[in-house]
Amino acid sequence: METKQRVFSGIQPSGNLHVGNYVGALKNWVAMQDDYENYFCIVDLHAITVPQDPKVLRQKIREVAAIYLASGLDPEKCVIFRQSKVSGHAELCWLLNSVARFGELSRMTQFKDKTSKGGAESASAGLFDYPVLQAADVLLYNAHLVPVGEDQRQHLELMRTLARRFNHLYGETFVVPEALIPPTGARVMSLDAPEEKMSKSSPRPGSYVAILDDPDSIRKKIRRAKTDSGTEIEASPDKPAITNLLDLYSAMSGETVSGIEAHYEGRGYGDLKKELAEVVIEGLAPVRERALELLDDPAELDRLLDSGARRAREAAQPALESARTRLGLD
Ligand code: TYM
Repeated sequence: METKQRVFSGIQPSGNLHVGNYVGALKNWVAMQDDYENYFCIVDLHAITVPQDPKVLRQKIREVAAIYLASGLDPEKCVIFRQSKVSGHAELCWLLNSVARFGELSRMTQFKDKTSKGGAESASAGLFDYPVLQAADVLLYNAHLVPVGEDQRQHLELMRTLARRFNHLYGETFVVPEALIPPTGARVMSLDAPEEKMSKSSPRPGSYVAILDDPDSIRKKIRRAKTDSGTEIEASPDKPAITNLLDLYSAMSGETVSGIEAHYEGRGYGDLKKELAEVVIEGLAPVRERALELLDDPAELDRLLDSGARRAREAAQPALESARTRLGLD
């Protein structure tokens, strides 16, 4: 029997999952789930690298689980689980810390961005070490493919570097994984500030469309989205706002950007926004409705996550044991 290659990816249970997470990650996971052996994690250990309210965190973890399922991930085909319930993640992170370098972690743009306001001095050691835990997540399952948005490219490069370095120093141990970044929707920008990435932790709800937003909020947010000067509906570097709306339209509808441009030739921004809102609503409504239903039964979600954690623990064992042995710890 041919064994399927493994896929691993994850989302942090912090803030509100948004349409960028949907088109940059979730939608693609669903589309590829038949062809691989899949591990989709709720990366709660990553979330605590910045302060979280424990009550809110508990709720967010279930929310992410509900959204995974509501998006169409099938628990028969995907192991869905919480990172903190599989201790191998933290353990392998420590083992990989011995090959990760201070210099390379200092150069991670996400760390630099996240500490640009408060300064690195007061950042948690966990935030600094974040990419090593992320490498452990994937290497623990010897996953081949990691479907993510564009913002994870640098973390994926580091993950590959750590896998290769470990293999070189201690002998062939880990699969060197590859990032899978979609052609459209890989970097959805904020609606109100198209020079910034759409972010779950933004304090401005108008900057993102949340997966759980109701249709009217979605209409309002897209209507208020920033536009560029001029009237032409075309994707170009000097039109970042319209380019973003076109990219989102394309990612949600499956139509090409040039096809959408042609459709709107001679028409105004108002038309584009109105129809884009409907495309987004149509795509997200079934996910929202199903997620809200699932959230009505938290015990069932917890049961599913527990069973996922059992399967993940088992799958993680071989890579963890071989890393320990290679290092001389077994
Ligand atoms: P997170 O939780 O920030 O985002 C989850 C996924 O959504 C993608 N994404 C976006 N895609 C398009 N446009 C956007 N504006 C946008 N914002 C986010 C992200 O690229 C990601 O795929 N470090 C990761 C979580 C993680 C992980 C892993 C991912 C931890 N361990 C192992 C893959 C493999 C993160 O913070 O994603």
